[in-house]
Amino acid sequence: MNQAEWWKTGVVYQVYVRSFADGNGDGTGDIAGLRSRLPYLKALGVDALWMNPWYDSPLRDGGYDVADYRKIDERFGTTAEVEELITEAHSLGMKLIADLVPNHTSTDHAWFQEALASPPGSPARDRYVFKEGKGESGELPPTNWTAVFGGPAWEPVGDGTWYLHIFDVSQPDLNWENEEVRAEFDSVFRFWLDRGIDGFRIDVAHGMVKDQAFPDVERAAVLLESDLAEDHPFWDREGIHEINRRFRSVLDEYDGRMMVAEAWVAPDRLPLYLRPDEYHQSFNFDLLGTEWNAGEFNSVIATAVEAAEKIGASSTWVLSNHDVMRHPTRYGLDAGINWRTWPLDGPTDALDVARGNRRARAACMITMSLPGSTYVYQGEELGLPEVWDLPVEVLDDPTWVRSDKQMKGRDGCRVPLPWEPDGPSFGFGSGNAWLPQPDVFGPLSAAVQTEDAASMLSLYRAAIFARREHFVHDQSFAPIDMGTDVVAYTRGDVLVVVNMGEAPIEMPDGEVILCSTDDVSAGLPIDSAVWVHRAR
Ligand code: NOJ
Repeated sequence: MNQAEWWKTGVVYQVYVRSFADGNGDGTGDIAGLRSRLPYLKALGVDALWMNPWYDSPLRDGGYDVADYRKIDERFGTTAEVEELITEAHSLGMKLIADLVPNHTSTDHAWFQEALASPPGSPARDRYVFKEGKGESGELPPTNWTAVFGGPAWEPVGDGTWYLHIFDVSQPDLNWENEEVRAEFDSVFRFWLDRGIDGFRIDVAHGMVKDQAFPDVERAAVLLESDLAEDHPFWDREGIHEINRRFRSVLDEYDGRMMVAEAWVAPDRLPLYLRPDEYHQSFNFDLLGTEWNAGEFNSVIATAVEAAEKIGASSTWVLSNHDVMRHPTRYGLDAGINWRTWPLDGPTDALDVARGNRRARAACMITMSLPGSTYVYQGEELGLPEVWDLPVEVLDDPTWVRSDKQMKGRDGCRVPLPWEPDGPSFGFGSGNAWLPQPDVFGPLSAAVQTEDAASMLSLYRAAIFARREHFVHDQSFAPIDMGTDVVAYTRGDVLVVVNMGEAPIEMPDGEVILCSTDDVSAGLPIDSAVWVHRAR
């Protein structure tokens, strides 16, 4: 791997710190827990860790509601511990990426508290997006914009003015027209770069600039959707690029750092974020919405690889993250089922767990063998299912309440990891975990899977190490047509074949490097993948 551009081909492991490992037994994951598990991550073979927000926060949106960007939340640890973590990760050869949330703060942030205590029109208010309401005494919201989590995107503060929150009511949007806001983020960048952070994942990278005419919209905002209307008043506005360039120029004051955009924009707009003076990389979320179907996979893969090649960028592959249903469960659902609403609406018999697991194994072998980099969401390597049946009383995600209890939200993919087969929280910590774990987590624990050569964990380890040997040095990719039910391509002298059809297919010729199943007696079974050295 070219160390200078490690992110172009790296495997990045996403740590949702609250649910990774609990070092002090309070039920919440923390930096101490993570540090104790670094050898596990080293053995898994990942190149970098991306830490979900770890800043001081009331955790009303899992830490994406930041109260202080320069302070680690006490439940997670201290800045000193983070400095140790960075040193330790580096000594193990792993990079560390922090999550930065520039679109909004928490209502607990000192700036917002100051804004509330200051009169309309004051400089303190100007750091956020306050507007006068409509109607005789400002009793109506300034626009019809809706929040991503549901409900109106404006909240009145009692003096005829309202503040904008594109996400939860506890997440007021910053005003990026204000130079003080921009300068503050230059400083926050430097604060973490000075402490050795290797890069940033920028949250809602397409959302910071708002149309200053504040027009009404025709369509409600939807979380995790990219089919965006042109000239939307708060998504993907032209002015974003000036901010991207400013971020980049601060980053470039340091050697070898990178930034990756969480930008939900139309595919033809994404390359604009990846110009040489903007982001290094952007998430490609297309696989999150792709059904288990060879035609769809082939098309998503071809489009992303071509787009990346055209602009000299690298593609990124994501099967799961902290915002979506875990993919073994997604792939286990019957075709056509909407996984966002299924946990409440059912039918429960639409889920075939074994099918989901088979497909998750094959999917790992797809993303690990494609050109570009791959993001692995913690627990994915254990094949953890979505805990879709969490009792509603424990739900923490604002989606639940803000959707009027129509959607359970994202807690089911954030349940604390199982490290041991038993114990009060399966080795997550010494006591109960902040969200209840299902019994199935015991046999899926890291300790059990480490001992099992046929486990999902063993497959991930083998795939990551084989990837480094076979796929990283040569980024060429050539699709191969093996019929409508098959995803197939070559990467150098390796052939990748995935059977997404209804019947086994012939095993390709050549020496097998890795196979997602050990029973190929009747050919490559359905929902299976194989990597072979091409026969010469
Ligand atoms: C995207 C993050 O991934 C999600 O978890 C969060 O709720 C929103 N941005 C708002 O910050």
